[in-house]
Amino acid sequence: MKNKAELSSLAAHTKLIPSVGKIRLALIAGGKSGEREVSLAGAKEVEKALSREKYEVSRYDPAMDLAQLAADAAKIEMAFILLHGPLGEDGTMQGFLDLLGIPYQGAGVLGSALAMDKNLAKILYQQAGLTVAAWEMAQPEDQKNPRRLLARLSLPLVIKPIRQGSSLGMSLARSEEELIQGLAKAFAYDSEVMVEQYVRGREITGGVLGNKELTALPIVEIIPGEGYDFFDYEAKYKKGASKEVCPAELPPEVTARAQEIALVAHRALQLKGYSRTDMIVAADGIYVLETNTIPGMTPTSLLPQAAAAHGLPFPALLDRLIELALT
Ligand SMILES: Nc1ncnc2c1ncn2[C@@H]1O[C@H](COP(=O)(O)OP(=O)(O)O)[C@@H](O)[C@H]1O
Ligand SMILES: [Mg+2]
Repeated sequence: MKNKAELSSLAAHTKLIPSVGKIRLALIAGGKSGEREVSLAGAKEVEKALSREKYEVSRYDPAMDLAQLAADAAKIEMAFILLHGPLGEDGTMQGFLDLLGIPYQGAGVLGSALAMDKNLAKILYQQAGLTVAAWEMAQPEDQKNPRRLLARLSLPLVIKPIRQGSSLGMSLARSEEELIQGLAKAFAYDSEVMVEQYVRGREITGGVLGNKELTALPIVEIIPGEGYDFFDYEAKYKKGASKEVCPAELPPEVTARAQEIALVAHRALQLKGYSRTDMIVAADGIYVLETNTIPGMTPTSLLPQAAAAHGLPFPALLDRLIELALT
């Protein structure tokens, strides 16, 4: 057992590896969540865009390389986590890297976990004065008889596993039968499921960049193609299935409010570095849906598009995220 002084000098030593020229960066992608393919596709683009002059990149897939990552920890100066959903975006990988003493981009353990839990996030948004759609947590027995839910909320409803992304396990219910089916589908993804009032309106997303000083990026509007009930997995990732407009063509006061909401959400969830908050502009105001702590990272993904419109092309955005992680 080492004494306290030895331990803290060890910690200082691992933090102060002199970086000779390039930053040794671990790109962590793949994993075991339902968004594995999205993660790998993003990693390919990130690896391509990362400057070879600035970074020496090594890849780790948590599905098989966790022990290797731990073994290499002393040689790694920073990690870029490109995992979405459970066991990656939810604080678990962040905790693992904290234990290994490796800095990483974006939110820490607490922020990642809060943002991943759509129920807790909504409670925090509300407390921060933001508007959210009315919701109820579903119980497994509601699958047999959803009347309890229907007494509190009215159709149409959106059913969501609370800890997923990319619309996985989600569905829209316009009838009691669809609600029963939707609950069964969502409970197959998560033991905790929420049922939320459907909000009609224009779907937008707001990126935030920064640590202490935050910048709200231009708002992007997402217009799902005809035939999509909502921005589901296919509408999200199939080429041409939805249209994105950046900056969104909204009245200036709506844009300003949406940017303010993105900043409030980012702070309410204790986030760091960057985030992307999904919202719906309805007739009676702007509703917050959720905040992504590791948003999609291909050059055409939503946050990179917004950053580009703000004057940060994809490689410069990556540089900025890395810089924010190391400060
Ligand atoms: N309450 C709602 N009303 C209308 N559409 C919704 C609602 N909640 C979600 N959606 C639609 O489903 C998509 C995914 O929901 P979201 O809460 O952003 O979860 P995630 O992106 O993590 O899967 C949204 O982009 C939106 O198109
Ligand atoms: Mg979303």
